Amino acid sequence: MKSRLHAHVGTLRQLEILVAVFEHGSIKGAAEALHLTQPTVSMQLKKLSDAINMPIYDLVGKKILFTEAGIETVTAAAEVLQRFAQLDMTLANLRGLKSGTLKLSVVTTAKYFIPHLLGPFCESYPDVDVQFHVGNRQQIIDKLRKGDSDFYVFSHPPEDIETQQIEFLSNPLVAIAHEGHPIARKKRITLQDLAKESFIMREAGSGTRFAIEEHMHTQKVDLNIRMTIESNEAIKHAVMSGLGISILSAHTLVYGGQSGLTKLKVQYLPIKTNWYFVWLKSKRLSVIAEAFLDHVQSEGREMMRAEFKRSGFTSKDL
Ligand code: PGA
Repeated sequence: MKSRLHAHVGTLRQLEILVAVFEHGSIKGAAEALHLTQPTVSMQLKKLSDAINMPIYDLVGKKILFTEAGIETVTAAAEVLQRFAQLDMTLANLRGLKSGTLKLSVVTTAKYFIPHLLGPFCESYPDVDVQFHVGNRQQIIDKLRKGDSDFYVFSHPPEDIETQQIEFLSNPLVAIAHEGHPIARKKRITLQDLAKESFIMREAGSGTRFAIEEHMHTQKVDLNIRMTIESNEAIKHAVMSGLGISILSAHTLVYGGQSGLTKLKVQYLPIKTNWYFVWLKSKRLSVIAEAFLDHVQSEGREMMRAEFKRSGFTSKDL
């Protein structure tokens, strides 16, 4: 049996297809992601299933339920594929090529500054391709568990995954209102004053929301949440049009524009958080990833600090 498995466990392509079906939860999703037809995907899975001589999944209605053998095969396949990706990188390094792909997955508030870090880096390494994925905190945690990016950027990295991380920059969360809002005229604003206003909040799963909830819980303040919006830009527009006030990362203002908005000086604000570059402990950084990390920690950090100050923020805000 063992030798049969060794000889027939499937081609790398079949393993890739298997992992894609597992990740997407459907033949259709995997076919689209891999640019294959659905019959091709089904046929390759059937061949793989014949090779291991056990069913890989059961169909319950239209839903794919992986069998125990299927899940074991997926786990092994993911390891094999990751090992091959590492081998690719090692061979590229041996050839002295600084080419390959840098893969980043970042939370929505980090998307404003990461491209500014990438600009000068890509100029120094013109043969490096970049894959850049943006999601909210929960979506980036899900990506981190899969481990297919080089770096993940969070303010609140998860504590239950073994990672390495470097602190990058402060990420103050500031209260904002429309310039003409009555609260903007107040000299001393307390969190209780803030709680009387209609508050516009990010969606569940957002790191910004996580930090606001934690802070308000510690300060024993109940915000008056009237609206939940999944995007920082849309929140800024809602605030501009007088629908309420909000708390957002100062970086959404620095890079995303702040006309019509005013920062409120509120007691016990800003909420002080930091950004972290995070990667899986089990992952060996490629030469490209190492070079990017160097860039981030040297010129990158300084450049971002300078930009922050140019936009009217002071070191007190940090
Ligand atoms: P968010 O994350 O985009 O999910 O709000 C921001 C953060 O983690 O600081």
